[in-house]
Amino acid sequence: MVRDETTPRLISPRVPFGELNLDKPLKLGIMASGSGSNFEAVAQAIADGQLNAQIQVLIYNNPDAKAAWRAQQWGVPAVLCNHREYGSREDLDRSIVEALQRHQVEWVVMAGWMRVVTPTLIDAFPDKIINIHPSLLPSFKGVRAVEQALEAGVKIAGCTVHLVLPEVDTGPILLQAAVPVFPDDTHQTLHSRIQTQEHLVLPQAIALAAQVNS
Ligand code: GRF
Repeated sequence: MVRDETTPRLISPRVPFGELNLDKPLKLGIMASGSGSNFEAVAQAIADGQLNAQIQVLIYNNPDAKAAWRAQQWGVPAVLCNHREYGSREDLDRSIVEALQRHQVEWVVMAGWMRVVTPTLIDAFPDKIINIHPSLLPSFKGVRAVEQALEAGVKIAGCTVHLVLPEVDTGPILLQAAVPVFPDDTHQTLHSRIQTQEHLVLPQAIALAAQVNS
């Protein structure tokens, strides 16, 4: 089998950034629970002049999330909203909304946010919350999406960027990218191939969402 992993398999056409008319910088708030490689991809797209935006704040929920370290490197304020310290999902989301509003965020990007969000958050930013999920939705919603794809034996996997609705991993799809699944793939090798595509499509999807809902 020939492995050409350098050529992205995009289901949606690549969005030409140049055609996206963002006349004023989008004020982004990013929510991340873990490594934050998608946070980094957005920060890099902004630094490269591909995405007219500014990351106002990173919200993270795990005190040892590498995303917080990345935010520091990029000079982005980071606010810890540790879910263990709240009595309910709504209480956590109220605190997140307060932090996002305090930092004048207009668009929220859930980039590896591993908590279920409630209408408390969703209603505060109507049609302005974006999520990235490591599967070709509507297949393999929820946790362990990459493992679910491997267990199902699919030959094509990928990622989806979509607007957030209250039901987990639903909402209008903005962009998707597909990658091949190889017979000897592990969860790690497949996830890594998917993440390469995530880093390309997430900044494009943010620009696309802002263009259709400005
Ligand atoms: C990504 O694969 C994303 O799709 C999923 O969580 C992962 C986060 O990765 N929701 P990172 O923290 O951005 O590196």
